[in-house]
Amino acid sequence: MKVDGTHYRSLWWDAKKDALQIIDQRWLPHEFRTQSVVTLQDFADAIIQMRVRGAPLIGATAAYGMALAMFIDPSDAHMAQAWEFLHNTRPTAINLRWALNRCQTALLPLPVADRAGAALALAHDIANEDVEINRQIGLNGLNLIQDIAAKKPSGEPVRLLTHCNAGWIATVDWGTATSPMYHAHNAGIALHIWVDETRPRNQDALTSWELGSHGIAHTYITDNAGGHLMQHGQVDMVITGTDRTTRRGDVCNKIGTYLKALAAHDNGVPFYVALPSPTIDWTVADGVADIPIKDRGEREITYVMGRNNAGQITEVQVTPDGTHGGNPAFDVTPNRLVSGLITERGICDASEAGLTAMFPDLSG
Ligand code: MRU
Repeated sequence: MKVDGTHYRSLWWDAKKDALQIIDQRWLPHEFRTQSVVTLQDFADAIIQMRVRGAPLIGATAAYGMALAMFIDPSDAHMAQAWEFLHNTRPTAINLRWALNRCQTALLPLPVADRAGAALALAHDIANEDVEINRQIGLNGLNLIQDIAAKKPSGEPVRLLTHCNAGWIATVDWGTATSPMYHAHNAGIALHIWVDETRPRNQDALTSWELGSHGIAHTYITDNAGGHLMQHGQVDMVITGTDRTTRRGDVCNKIGTYLKALAAHDNGVPFYVALPSPTIDWTVADGVADIPIKDRGEREITYVMGRNNAGQITEVQVTPDGTHGGNPAFDVTPNRLVSGLITERGICDASEAGLTAMFPDLSG
């Protein structure tokens, strides 16, 4: 996607510097800063501090981290150590484990001397595949948007609601939930996106930045506004991303997604989830019981970050001194509330039968 006219992916390999480049997302939407990731600790920090974020991007970053580990020391022992070190950075997004396992499976049988080059090539493959997966999700989601547009008086926008940034910067490119939006916009369909702020970290300020950069009409709303808008017929469809979806289609995504799904269900609004196959956790069925949800600490709740009138990016305390904040970062939407899963192969039911029929080769 383009930033000020230049095409970017959210990470890229700089052959001259021999290093991975990332966008440091902590400064967005206010400043666009990029950074070289050079040491294994840099990789861990980038994920822990959410310089890179979003499940697919976390997975791709970890693959490059494994490549660096193989350049440092390609032994079996170091591979296992790097797996553990990178895996411990964030617990919920399953793409992290998926990418590290894929690297380990591919690299372990190789002679030690071949591992570094193979690991870097594999990281490039994972990044490129992510772009293609998301492009396909966009084309499949476009069909849903076209169906809605076809039933509207000409010129009336299709009104979508999204929660959290599942945009191009949460992936390598295109995004998951945003890819159908970008494809619809490129196809000339009028859109209006309701963009939930997504407290505490306000990831949808990033979505506003993305959509604004691409000329897609949108309105930034509080997390609590969606139910009201649905009751008043202002939302045609909800599309969110996911950090981990179980084999029976329970969807773990940013905190607050579940409430949107409940409101959508109550108001007969279709609730779709854009799901790349690496985000499916085939080892888990019951998402509520078995997906670990981290409490990210109270500072994200009791403070907000933003840009002040002097142009400085700063934190501001919003609660009285000593107030405790609770901060579960994700929640799980049970499959019964999900209208369908938009995958790279097509749209399926949020059920074990639906996912298994779509991915017989992956479901084991
Ligand atoms: O904590 P984050 O910002 O990494 O969480 C990201 C999300 O929850 C996204 O909404 C989700 O769709 C996964 S990224 C496509």
